[in-house]
Amino acid sequence: MHSTTTKSQQSRGVIECYSEFLPVSPATPVISLGEGNTPLIYSPRLSERVGRGCVVFVKTEGVNPTGSFKDRGMTVAVSKAVECGTNALICASTGNTSASAAAYAARAGISCVVILPAGKIATGKLLQAFAYGAKIVAIDGNFDDALRIVRELGEAGGFTIVNSINPDRIAGQKTAAFEIVDELGDAPDFHLLPVGNAGNITAYWTGYREYLVHERSTNLPSMIGFQAAGAAPIFYDRTIDNPDTIASAIRIGNPASWQQARAAIVESRGAIDVVSDDEILAAQSWLAQHEGVFVEPASAAPIAGLFKCCDSRDTAYSFRQIREGSRIVCTVTGHGLKDPEVIIGQLKELKPIAATVTDVRRAIEL
Ligand code: F0G
Repeated sequence: MHSTTTKSQQSRGVIECYSEFLPVSPATPVISLGEGNTPLIYSPRLSERVGRGCVVFVKTEGVNPTGSFKDRGMTVAVSKAVECGTNALICASTGNTSASAAAYAARAGISCVVILPAGKIATGKLLQAFAYGAKIVAIDGNFDDALRIVRELGEAGGFTIVNSINPDRIAGQKTAAFEIVDELGDAPDFHLLPVGNAGNITAYWTGYREYLVHERSTNLPSMIGFQAAGAAPIFYDRTIDNPDTIASAIRIGNPASWQQARAAIVESRGAIDVVSDDEILAAQSWLAQHEGVFVEPASAAPIAGLFKCCDSRDTAYSFRQIREGSRIVCTVTGHGLKDPEVIIGQLKELKPIAATVTDVRRAIEL
């Protein structure tokens, strides 16, 4: 295993940090951009909202090299693909996977094709795929259509699929659970996260279980997943033909890892629940304005979910009777700057004023 990143401790990347738990060998060329090692931020105001002495942390995956958690899985998937001699990657995406695949393909010096639902990708993510030099194909269809096409093209040969149906993606993403346990000293009591194609909940659950088996932890968290109300196939237990939500990253009607997500929820005595678009947007601005963490709408789903667990009687998991001092981790999956449209819509027009101290004082009402 030879590294392409720096040798400093801070930016070693997930393969170097966790190689013993990953499907790599000394022969694997490590394609890394220094992903992982993301901040687990203690959130005093969220903790206060839960009460009972509970402690809430947010795992800020938006600080990864391309701004989302996908980089953890992509470093492993692309390293293995290069080891196997591939020279082209392909993926379907709601945006973040395509940005990540394009970056790691560029790093590896191979090509990358991304199949996207036309008009449904947040601006920042589309810009990223373009900037990294991917071949971008927009289809008249949704993510589920794109993934169906990618599966067929992948099976026909010539491409390595780097969606989360590639087990190397899941292996890389489970390192987020390792980092949380390493930092907290044990697994948290609850882990909340957004669910789209359901790869990430599968990966976290795999990571937590592996660490328990290796006696790096003594317990397992309850996994609580949140889907957008208009795109909630797992919650409603049926495929959704026309999924719809402002949280475009999780606009998915037929998740690939559906069964694995179910298993994680049942085995962990967790839950799956839904949050509305209004709740998602309110949680997005609350998190930015009360904790200083700006995330994209999909990433605000677990924050909206946490509020629902605390406040609502109609919730799949109530925190009202939660054990005193419970530790809760919410994964916020992607950076807020990826999806500027919603916020731009809320921006008030900025009319310039005269460049004098008096005018500025008046403007800020001092
Ligand atoms: N949050 C963000 C920001 C995402 O981009 C995704 C998925 C999820 C949550 C859900 O994770 O699919 O593992 O359940 N984005 C994929 C993509 C589908 O194409 O970028 P999941």
